[in-house]
Amino acid sequence: MHERSAYNEAVKSGQYEKVTGLLGKYDNVRRLWEDEVMRLFIQPYLDRMVDRKRKMREGLRILDLGCGSGDGYELLIGMKRGEAGLSNHANTAIEPGLLEFYKGIDLNPGLIAQAEAIYGRNPNMVFVEGNFNELDLDSEEPYDICLASYGTLSHNRLKQNARLLTKLAQNGRNGSLIVCDWLGRYSYEWQTLWSNDLDQEQWMDYLISYIYPEEERKHRELSSLDLALLSRREVLAIINSARRQSGVNIRMRKLFDRSVLVGRHIDTRDYNPHAQPLRQRVNSLFEPSIRTDLEGLLVSYVPKDGFHAVNEFYRMFGSSWNALVGYVIALLRHYDARKASPQPEVERHHPRALRMAMAEMRRLIATTHRSEMGDVRASIIEPGLGYALRELEMGLQRGMGCGHGLVAILELEKERAS
Ligand SMILES: C[S@@+](CC[C@H](N)C(=O)[O-])C[C@H]1O[C@@H](n2cnc3c(N)ncnc32)[C@H](O)[C@@H]1O
Repeated sequence: MHERSAYNEAVKSGQYEKVTGLLGKYDNVRRLWEDEVMRLFIQPYLDRMVDRKRKMREGLRILDLGCGSGDGYELLIGMKRGEAGLSNHANTAIEPGLLEFYKGIDLNPGLIAQAEAIYGRNPNMVFVEGNFNELDLDSEEPYDICLASYGTLSHNRLKQNARLLTKLAQNGRNGSLIVCDWLGRYSYEWQTLWSNDLDQEQWMDYLISYIYPEEERKHRELSSLDLALLSRREVLAIINSARRQSGVNIRMRKLFDRSVLVGRHIDTRDYNPHAQPLRQRVNSLFEPSIRTDLEGLLVSYVPKDGFHAVNEFYRMFGSSWNALVGYVIALLRHYDARKASPQPEVERHHPRALRMAMAEMRRLIATTHRSEMGDVRASIIEPGLGYALRELEMGLQRGMGCGHGLVAILELEKERAS
């Protein structure tokens, strides 16, 4: 009897649910690629802020716009200090006690309820059901970090974004960070929607179809939402407009493409018949104990007429991606053939980011190929390739709107006295 109730309790807790890294909102690409790319780009600015806060004995105040179930909090709390050594296990950037206040706001009551169920008992965390465009920030203390992550600002029109950014800039203090995130106008996964008319806002009917397995997707009736697709030029226009309206020097520290060729819709082909299921395959790379067909990772990009610069970027990126995957395939064959087949070469003309990624994979495979710690290909080499492809994206992206996400990290420059 006791046994039965113990299992029942465990099942009811929700902790017994089978989660997988291969599908769903929090798949491996979200956790190990997208969240980590965000963290790696934000890291130097957060480290600086944390040092400043410690010196002044102040806590951090965080505002999470379109917080979902507390995703912005999880993103930041998972940040690591840049300089932590290998022998140091305590490397979180925001140590316990440093968070003074977190406010998450979202229109969706279900997500707010989920956030409260997870974090509601924490006295310095508040979740509000409401519209972030209507926030009254005049009555609030300055925030140190404002986040609107994972396409959240694509819910707004350009002018609304400029007004929102103006309010955030007026509220913040010298050194405050604002992280803005839109859908990229030229992501390959929605190539049929590309348009060169930058004077028109470009919107899409976005389907959250990707969270279902392929078979189920075909039979489900799904509602869509309107989301804006942005390029670099439109992001710069929003920031310039907010700079003028607020009178605050909003410095753009970084503008980057995130999830180039591995966005959510690359697997669904809902908006591009040529798309290959690359996210699914990268999810498999990261999954321990599963081997991935590496040939299936090779990209064959189909260009679109009239988009010269974008086509040129994808050709460069796709050929570097393929060179790295091909290099790993050749290295594995080299070791299988007991070195009878030649070790593949790294060519001088390759971009630096590609040469670095190849060198990482060469070192990793050379040191692990004879290891007897289980299936090293599935559990060490393939995740290593996932990280190397992620590094390649970080090194080669140009912040043009060619990823699923186009992200800006902004820092406020205000008078010291403010
Ligand atoms: C793309 S999701 C991102 C969720 C979350 N930040 C994450 O990292 O996964 C966008 C979120 O913004 C919310 N949202 C959209 N427009 C909003 C608005 N005007 N005010 C408040 N929340 C909004 C949606 O309900 C949704 O939860």
